[in-house]
Amino acid sequence: MFELPDDIQEIQKLARDFARSEVLPGAQERDHSHSYPAAQVASLAEMGFMGMCVPEAFGGAGMSTLAYVVALEEICYADASVGVTMSVNNSLVCWPILAYGNQVQKEKYLPDLASGRKLGCYALTEPNAGSDAGAQRTKATPVEGGYQLDGSKIWITNAPKAQVCVAYANLAVEERHKGVTAFILEADWAGYGIGKPEDKLGITSSSTSELHFDKLFVPVANRLAEERKGFGIAMATLDGGRIGIAAQALGIAQRAFDLAVAYAKQREAFGKPIAANQAIQWMVADMATRIESARLLTWRAAVAKDKGDKARASHYCSMAKLSASETANFCADKALQVHGGYGYSKEYEVERLFRDARITTLYEGTSEIQRIVISRSYLA
Ligand code: CAA
Repeated sequence: MFELPDDIQEIQKLARDFARSEVLPGAQERDHSHSYPAAQVASLAEMGFMGMCVPEAFGGAGMSTLAYVVALEEICYADASVGVTMSVNNSLVCWPILAYGNQVQKEKYLPDLASGRKLGCYALTEPNAGSDAGAQRTKATPVEGGYQLDGSKIWITNAPKAQVCVAYANLAVEERHKGVTAFILEADWAGYGIGKPEDKLGITSSSTSELHFDKLFVPVANRLAEERKGFGIAMATLDGGRIGIAAQALGIAQRAFDLAVAYAKQREAFGKPIAANQAIQWMVADMATRIESARLLTWRAAVAKDKGDKARASHYCSMAKLSASETANFCADKALQVHGGYGYSKEYEVERLFRDARITTLYEGTSEIQRIVISRSYLA
């Protein structure tokens, strides 16, 4: 598939028009002031973009993963902070509730999350469980009527604003991932604490913090799927999340490319536009080639997910994320280089793109973790 179907092109246009008129204009200012994009997130919700793949029966837009990644790229072209807020709600919160929740859980949580009345976060990472996600130390202790959760999570995107949290805790820390169990938490429950906001290099207007669970009682009705199934849920969720981050990275890369090309055509040095130099032309060629390749991989991963091709989706998701995130960093770096000293100034957008790109090879699995997932699928 090399052309998007007509209906997805319509979604792409809707997202592009919105992103360029409503998201892009304030992106620099929000970045500098670290202001949460509340108005933009509210508009995304009105457009059905906060629960794109949630069926209409549960209040979502009922669209495909392909439509989702195409729309997300457009939003991230304008502002990756807005994009990650959208992607966490869609991929990491709505999806596991839809895929693993029972009917009561779906009816209770999905309509609010998909409509944007509530925002979700996904709490997996801990101080000693980053790449080694199976080393979960947040404890889940069985108590009458449910579980008591104790422990801390870090780097939780959306946590300061979220009302719903899909969280992972361990029934048997010594058994590592085998004891991990998933839960749906509500932020206003006693014992649910929002910790220190993270002071980040990039995506500064997205909202990220620690979470602390202190004798947090979770009723059994809020356990997501069976006990000890949590690690598989976390991993399958991240497969989809990684396509979202690939789309985010593509948006950053495409914006960096467009700015580099425009600047190269208008900036003159030694009596001619710098675009007339082969040094610049090669950078443009390399950026364009990497973006096209990463986009095709991202679409391929999305289609594999839509087809329910679980085995292939997992490694395509990692390939898409690896390729697109490395491409975003490459393109942001080259775009800054094309801009010369101006690119180093906060007045120029490429400076923000350079910082925003950096997270894409880290969260939802580093590039090194993606390589583990990809190689295992061939060597296992
Ligand atoms: N789908 C379903 N199940 C899966 C799976 C998948 N994609 N991948 C693994 N599993 C299952 C395995 O089948 C296995 O099950 P059994 O115990 O029943 O046999 C189990 O999970 C353990 O698998 P592994 O032995 O492969 O586990 P591992 O300890 O070697 O870890 C890993 C594998 C790929 C390195 C994993 O730990 C990983 O992905 N680490 C990175 C974590 C990560 O991406 N964190 C991101 C945090 S969230 C975030 O960043 C959000 C944000 O802010 C935006």
